[in-house]
Amino acid sequence: MHAFDHLQLAAIARRHGTPLWIYDAGAIRQRIAQLKAFDTIRYAQKANSNTHILRLMRAEGVKVDAVSLGEIERALAAGYRGGGEDADIVFTADVLDRPTLARVVAERITVNAGSIDMLRQLGEAAPGHPVWLRINPGFGHGHSQKTNTGGENSKHGIWHGDLDEALQAIRQFKLRLVGVHMHIGSGVDYGHLEQVCGAMVDLVAKLDCDIEAISAGGGLSIPYRDGEPRIDTGHYFQLWDAARQRIAERLGHPVRLEIEPGRFLVAESGALLAEVHAVKNMGSRRFALVDAGFNDLMRPSLYGSYHRITVLDADGHEKTGSEDTVVAGPLCESGDVFTQQEGGTVETRPLPPAAVGDLMVFHDAGAYGASMSSNYNSRPLLAEVLVDGGEPRLIRRRQTMAELLALEA
Ligand code: LLP
Repeated sequence: MHAFDHLQLAAIARRHGTPLWIYDAGAIRQRIAQLKAFDTIRYAQKANSNTHILRLMRAEGVKVDAVSLGEIERALAAGYRGGGEDADIVFTADVLDRPTLARVVAERITVNAGSIDMLRQLGEAAPGHPVWLRINPGFGHGHSQKTNTGGENSKHGIWHGDLDEALQAIRQFKLRLVGVHMHIGSGVDYGHLEQVCGAMVDLVAKLDCDIEAISAGGGLSIPYRDGEPRIDTGHYFQLWDAARQRIAERLGHPVRLEIEPGRFLVAESGALLAEVHAVKNMGSRRFALVDAGFNDLMRPSLYGSYHRITVLDADGHEKTGSEDTVVAGPLCESGDVFTQQEGGTVETRPLPPAAVGDLMVFHDAGAYGASMSSNYNSRPLLAEVLVDGGEPRLIRRRQTMAELLALEA
């Protein structure tokens, strides 16, 4: 959990305006420390790709995953480099467009291939290039069907039954196979974890070539709701370490174990600060309307995701009391509601009675918050503030209206 006190949040909101993203560097470092048993922590930057967050990760010895040319450029801008054994940057994708292929080859960025076509296209352009195979083991799991990345309904990875064909492409184009990767979804439980570890061991047993490393992918969940269990990272490591040992015995040499979390590292470090601008009753329902919308924090509208909400008065004192409230944003669309279930059913939340001018804090918004924002309703992207050692620093300024219009000039 982030360590902001409410008065500090209110002061930062006054200084930088709302809506605003705010992150606690200490909370990120704490989560990194919890995963130190893994040989490589590779941050899935799609969760939050601000270059200042990436610099923090790099300073802590965390490597990075990129899923687009833009994410590659962000990693390079933050000081990560291509090449090397335990590659700084791994590009994970299911397709390779031409500009990305050119950049990946020029910077010698390791590619985690999610399709055999990617292997062929890369191999033709750059024989000897280092690759991982991202394998779809035939099953998956996610906090929402939209975040399940395994099984027959998922477009991700190379189907486990096509392993031989993938290896053939690797040999034909003289690519260098570094390792095998599995990521079955976001929000995994231990049952599925054991299943993936088993699938990884079985898969490597079928390889007729050597590998240096395996990747456990990401997917570690966090407790968004009060009372939800917290993942036991020690147990998580033990399960993967056992799989790694069986693979190492079979290959006859040590095997590096990577993990690739996004959410776990940054979700709890971040909050979205918004101001209440209107309070109104719709029949029996009470609505509090804030200045942040689903173009800023998309998760509730897209997946019915739950984010804890705290109500502060304008000075930052936490309000008390309980009133069933629907919390909604300013967008001209009915689905712009922060309290809803997957599928769109609007829910009330018992919250302290909100008044115009109060602040609402949407917690655990450090992952898939800012990085999923859009300009819908022609709303500029928000500013981001990183607090490190008590010092708030603006790490992205608010987009201006001129910037919003600039591409159409
Ligand atoms: N590795 C790969 C190949 C992935 O596709 C993902 C997430 C991760 C790692 C990191 O997963 P994490 O540790 O963050 O669960 N927008 C959704 C999550 C989509 C995740 C997509 N891939 C959300 O807000 O919940």
